[in-house]
Amino acid sequence: MNLLIMGLPGAGKGTQAAKIVEKFDVVHISTGDMFRAAIANQTEMGLLAKSYMDRGDLVPDEVTNGIVKERLSQADIREKGFLLDGYPRTIDQAHALDQSLKNIGIELEGVINIEIEPTKLVERLSGRIIHRQTGETFHKVFNPPADGYDEKDYYQREDDKPESVARRLEVNIAQGQPIIEHYRLAGLVHDIEGDQDIEVVFADIEKVLSKLQ
Ligand code: AP5
Ligand code: MG
Repeated sequence: MNLLIMGLPGAGKGTQAAKIVEKFDVVHISTGDMFRAAIANQTEMGLLAKSYMDRGDLVPDEVTNGIVKERLSQADIREKGFLLDGYPRTIDQAHALDQSLKNIGIELEGVINIEIEPTKLVERLSGRIIHRQTGETFHKVFNPPADGYDEKDYYQREDDKPESVARRLEVNIAQGQPIIEHYRLAGLVHDIEGDQDIEVVFADIEKVLSKLQ
């Protein structure tokens, strides 16, 4: 399957993507994760991306389109299919994606759109913790690690500080609507209620994906 997962920052894209990958064995492509890896490796692209990400702004389209296009051209995509998380984030990125997929002869099959009130998201992002070793995402209150946790084994994302969160929400609300409309016109969008327990959200997604398979 070739899929997008969309939703505002903190909607649960990464959380649900991990479950989708486990169950349906598609390749997870998260542009945010790719930029964070580039930052950790101190590449030139990482340094550039960091200046935008820390503020909560979008990395310029030409950079983002380039890394996605290159990733989509790799062999595992054709074998397994993909789940793009956090891309496209502007209507120009959506057009670039359409063109890239056309060029490689792959068709988009579905868009999972996780819907949730923006007011709920600040709490989600401020409580998010990520395991240093595995990279697995948890939440201090809503989804704590099963055996309790030691603060030093976890970190919080730089852009989860309040100033960046406010900007991320503002940017993504403004840019997101035309993208959803673009895919709605193509009949690809499946709306999922995001303000439910993680397992319930996943059950709703599973129902949609089982029909697409
Ligand atoms: P990115 O990494 O994509 O971040 P984001 O879109 O802001 O989304 P998040 O990863 O913060 O949230 P999520 O929806 O994955 O939620 P999660 O599952 O973690 O992008 C970061 C930055 O990179 C951007 O701001 C931009 O600068 C740059 N970038 C990336 N892509 C780009 C692009 N295409 N173009 C330009 N720039 C780009 O869940 C959040 C928390 O809530 C967790 O703690 C989780 O445990 C908890 N939670 C999840 N689901 C539930 C639930 N159902 N109930 C209760 N708690 C829940
Ligand atoms: Mg994420």
